[in-house]
Amino acid sequence: MAGLIPQQFIDDLLTRVDIIDVIDGYVALKKAGRNHQARCPFHEEKTPSFTVSQEKQFYHCFGCGANGTAITFLMEYAGLDFVSAIEELASRVGLEVPREGGINPKDAHLTQLYELMELVVHYYTRQLREHPRAQQAITYLKDRGLTGKLAADYELGYAPPGWDALINALGNSTEALGRLYDIGLVIRKDSGNYYDRFRNRIIFPIRDQRGRAIGLGGRVLDQDDTPKYLNSPETPIFHKGRELYGLYQARKSLKECDHLYVVEGYMDVLALAQHGIPNCVATLGTAATSEHLDRLFRSTSRIIFCFDGDTAGDKAAWRAMEVALPLLREGRQIFFMFMPEGQDPDDFVRQFGAEKFTSNDQRVALSSYLFETLREQIDLSTLEGRARFAEKAIPYISRIPAGALQALLISDLAKQCQLQEEALVSLLKETKPAPEIVRSNVRSAQTARRCTPMTPISKAIQLLLHHPQLSISDEQLTRLRNIKDPGVEFLLELLEFCRSQKQVNTARILEHWRDNRYGKRLRELATQENPLIHDDSVDDEAFKNELIDYISDIERSIHEEKRQMQRRNIKGWDDFRQLYDKSIGKPGQGTS
Ligand code: GTP
Ligand code: MN
Repeated sequence: MAGLIPQQFIDDLLTRVDIIDVIDGYVALKKAGRNHQARCPFHEEKTPSFTVSQEKQFYHCFGCGANGTAITFLMEYAGLDFVSAIEELASRVGLEVPREGGINPKDAHLTQLYELMELVVHYYTRQLREHPRAQQAITYLKDRGLTGKLAADYELGYAPPGWDALINALGNSTEALGRLYDIGLVIRKDSGNYYDRFRNRIIFPIRDQRGRAIGLGGRVLDQDDTPKYLNSPETPIFHKGRELYGLYQARKSLKECDHLYVVEGYMDVLALAQHGIPNCVATLGTAATSEHLDRLFRSTSRIIFCFDGDTAGDKAAWRAMEVALPLLREGRQIFFMFMPEGQDPDDFVRQFGAEKFTSNDQRVALSSYLFETLREQIDLSTLEGRARFAEKAIPYISRIPAGALQALLISDLAKQCQLQEEALVSLLKETKPAPEIVRSNVRSAQTARRCTPMTPISKAIQLLLHHPQLSISDEQLTRLRNIKDPGVEFLLELLEFCRSQKQVNTARILEHWRDNRYGKRLRELATQENPLIHDDSVDDEAFKNELIDYISDIERSIHEEKRQMQRRNIKGWDDFRQLYDKSIGKPGQGTS
């Protein structure tokens, strides 16, 4: 956490990630000619007009105009901010996001907290190995079937008894104590003195998905102590409603498996990992939120909920199902597993083993769970029962985004209720809230389409944006360099960039200029209709000639303009947009 992310890093990152993989994790894409397609996730539609180009690393919806790069997609669709989107992409390809200087004080403080948290984890794990009274903790973990290797993998620790073990180790100055307080690990008494929050407990360090230590869980050793579990409180670096225990470790295992288990307890995660099922996470003593699920769906498209076999577990499962419905876009799947009465996943895997736990027979799809639960206590042999079932099911189905899954559920429900699908669809329509356009970029894209007319410079830039491999002759380059005009200067900059980069594509250009004054215009140009550019049958040679023509037009129009502006006192342009106004006949200040 520090200053700006270097532009070079973003450029490099975009050559390593593939927009197809990124988007496919959220919206199932189908190959269609050179591109991939899907029904647009940004607006409701029946036929796919959302198009993703692997070559350009760019998506564009011909229906609503939504468009952008992998970064834009994560921002607009997954709701990440720019930095988180970069971090998400970087973590997919195993890169650390570097920062430039110019650290702001808030970031500096957070960095200190993260660093301190790291020291705390180190301190507690060492106590498990070294503290004279750690034997009880070690015995406890062993009795629960966990090996030293697993304890090391999950960095299990031990908080010694007493009120000031951590304070003595890491809180020797007022500042240090203050920071321990900021990460919630010491508690302040009315007298102004502090004491350790975690005492005589097994410690479960919690890392975020990037691997930064952010908080702790702690379990009692003595059966009589309360509370059984204790978590770090909310702090500037720890937000329970978002984080998942074990996600960092589980993500490492996702290369081999394509799904994640969500369980209730720390010990469940550990027991499953011990039995060779490392793809498990637990919420931190809270119900699963859509933020949790969003985060999980960023790592996998298949989630399996496995809650305890008790009333609380049943409630948690139903609640998780309700939270998940609106997130069930195409390609995503959710399953449920139900533990025998009184057992949790830890008990189950120890009694029956990993093979049984992971077997397909153990889980049911969300749709079966939904229907079976709703059907309980309904007699489907009567007409009233079937009507009642349909009425109960439709509001749930309506919360699933329109798509194949929703359609399948409707058709399944129709069969079970002996109703026409059309009848259910109209019921669904009545229930459904007005179609909602998902996110904000739709409007800006629509504005973009009725925007600024195309000057030769715009045309050249647009052509390069879509075909960055095109080049012009040295002679033409030299002539362009002699023109003092911001638009031409930008065109030269763009030509230079395309030349200097090995794997240049539309996305890399857009991201390179994202935050500067050309960014907006580039985004407009990226989607502005141009029959030539979107015609796949046109070959490179034709494009090259086109570019050369545009450049001749630019030279001509600049000379023409110079004549018109003769003898005026001409100031430098500072806004790219003005160039366009000027070229369509609104002479403002000229060039020098
Ligand atoms: P054991 O097997 O008994 O060690 O625990 P478990 O991992 O099976 O957990 P349990 O099913 O008892 O509870 C599930 C999760 O709820 C725990 O992992 C904690 O995150 C949370 N939890 C349980 N008890 C408490 C408590 O007393 N206080 C708090 N804050 N959280 C708790
Ligand atoms: Mn348990």
